[in-house]
Amino acid sequence: MIEITLVRGDITQQHVDAIVNAANSSLLGGGGVDGAIHRRGGPEILAECRALRASHYGKGLRTGQAVATTAGRLDARHVIHTVGPVWSREEDRSALLASCYRESLRVAAELGAGTVAFPAISTGIYGWPIDDGARIAIRTVRAAAVAPITEVRFVLFDEHAYKAFETAL
Ligand code: AR6
Repeated sequence: MIEITLVRGDITQQHVDAIVNAANSSLLGGGGVDGAIHRRGGPEILAECRALRASHYGKGLRTGQAVATTAGRLDARHVIHTVGPVWSREEDRSALLASCYRESLRVAAELGAGTVAFPAISTGIYGWPIDDGARIAIRTVRAAAVAPITEVRFVLFDEHAYKAFETAL
């Protein structure tokens, strides 16, 4: 049985095996969750990201894909970097958002992670409406979480996001 839990808080402070970063395709940092992870995790994570760019992702990590590094000074053991889609009114990109959750879980299971924490991918700087983002997140995690994962925790930064996830759950 996989437990889906919701907490209000900061993803960088979670005691879990893996935390997921709402990154961008450069893998070289940014604002929001990405900025917080690199600030708190220290330079080791960025150094690994640079090495991954050089070895595997010369053109950057594609939207909907996920890749892991160590977690530097964070309590987690791994950071799984995924690239969410930018919200669009003209084009339905929800398959790409679902892919972020699915691919991150696949990588987490490969690493042997039991507990995984996600932020609400794409719902900040990338502009995805939180209610819709929450529905896609919950639906995809329910369908895709597999052993050895036992807990998927959504870490929501504010009350509004928390409520949206509560409703979706
Ligand atoms: N812990 C948990 N949730 C957070 C935290 C935190 N420390 N900080 C923000 N949130 P965002 P995106 C929430 O913007 O929309 C970066 O520049 C936030 O309120 O971090 O996928 C990357 O490099 C929102 O609900 O990610 C990319 O360029 C959610 O986390 C771009 O932003 C996601 O917000 C990615 O944008």
